[in-house]
Amino acid sequence: MKILLGVTGSIAAYKAVEITSRLKKAGNEVKVIMTANATKFVSKRTFAEISKNAVSVDMFSEPDYKAEHIELASWADLVLIAPATANIIAKIANGIADDTLSTTILATKAPVIICPAMNTNMLSNTATQTNLKTLTQRGIEIIEPATGILACQTVGKGRLPEPAEIVEKILNHQNKKPLPMKLLVTAGATIEPIDPVRYITNHSTGRMGYAIATQAIKRGAEVILISAKAELQPPEGVKFIKAETALEMHDKVLEHFNSVDAVIMTAAVSDYRVKNISTQKIKKSADTLTLELVKNPDILKELGKVKTKQKLIGFAAETENLLENAQRKLREKNLDFIVANNVTQAGAGFAADTNIATFISKTGQVQNLPKMSKLSLADEILNLLIER
Ligand code: PMT
Repeated sequence: MKILLGVTGSIAAYKAVEITSRLKKAGNEVKVIMTANATKFVSKRTFAEISKNAVSVDMFSEPDYKAEHIELASWADLVLIAPATANIIAKIANGIADDTLSTTILATKAPVIICPAMNTNMLSNTATQTNLKTLTQRGIEIIEPATGILACQTVGKGRLPEPAEIVEKILNHQNKKPLPMKLLVTAGATIEPIDPVRYITNHSTGRMGYAIATQAIKRGAEVILISAKAELQPPEGVKFIKAETALEMHDKVLEHFNSVDAVIMTAAVSDYRVKNISTQKIKKSADTLTLELVKNPDILKELGKVKTKQKLIGFAAETENLLENAQRKLREKNLDFIVANNVTQAGAGFAADTNIATFISKTGQVQNLPKMSKLSLADEILNLLIER
């Protein structure tokens, strides 16, 4: 994605350097426009080095003037202004175009995201609030300033949020292409009864699958969410189906398979179930107790055998040899993609709000993703369905 970053004259301008770096690392091309006041806080050279692109400040400074503002305005897929002073917010709200940044913003058709950063009183001033409201009404997204100690030594709202937070929002934004399809998502931990009061299960909370269903609904997909044990409320708008055991999930998934365009299996499905489920609570007696387990059907593998138009995305929850094991599962189950996660890594796998994933495609492409929220990862996974 081509991101145009506008940096204005605030002490928080130094944070825009990290924003540039993080956006680059996430695979974006970044060009920076600084206002003259911004250059009093951070040098033009710093942004040029990090972005690996020339930085624009004064459109008339070059000997060969070439309407750079128009070029940049149409080059950008997204314009981000961080930090945005009260001054630039007022200019944008009123259509003032008196330097490279404000002129470019007036000329662009790209979505604009603004991160205000200023003293609390300047922020709460009716003029600024009215300008922000105007911008919101025009469809410009505002990332709310954080509350804390400000550079002017007062405490209040007005801090630029942390670069990681801003970048995550940008990445989310870029991931919001419409998803005109019918999607089946599985989630949660299957439970395999032992007797009426006990069962075998695992640590899945359903967060990964519910995040995918949530983001897919937001992007216009029709979603069937087949959920085993999970601690969450189903997202509004999904067709919700409960399936507690692997066998129940198997039946429900197969029942709906022909009607969908894609299946994403995040559910942690038990590979085995108890052969003879006791109808009564098993009494404590001998020192050891042996349970005989039988293999459950491999739902994805079955889908891989009968798929026609459907795209299949599986997950691989691994504790060792991540790539090797995931590649084997991708092959054996005839998947289009597999999302491999090492469930022993901090911030990845079960129960966390974040995940660290590697995408592997059936054509052999491997993409390592950084740690991100499960919602952001959900969007990345959904992108696989429309982009590749
Ligand atoms: O729910 P959370 O707390 O957010 O945790 C997320 C997660 C760790 C559960 C998720 O990220 C994840 O890794 N899900 C896959 C869990 C799993 O069962 O992985 P597996 O490697 O054992 O299975 C490979 C694939 O085959 C999976 O897509 C699985 O759904 C599917 N499978 C497995 C067994 C089986 N009998 N039938 C299947 O279809």
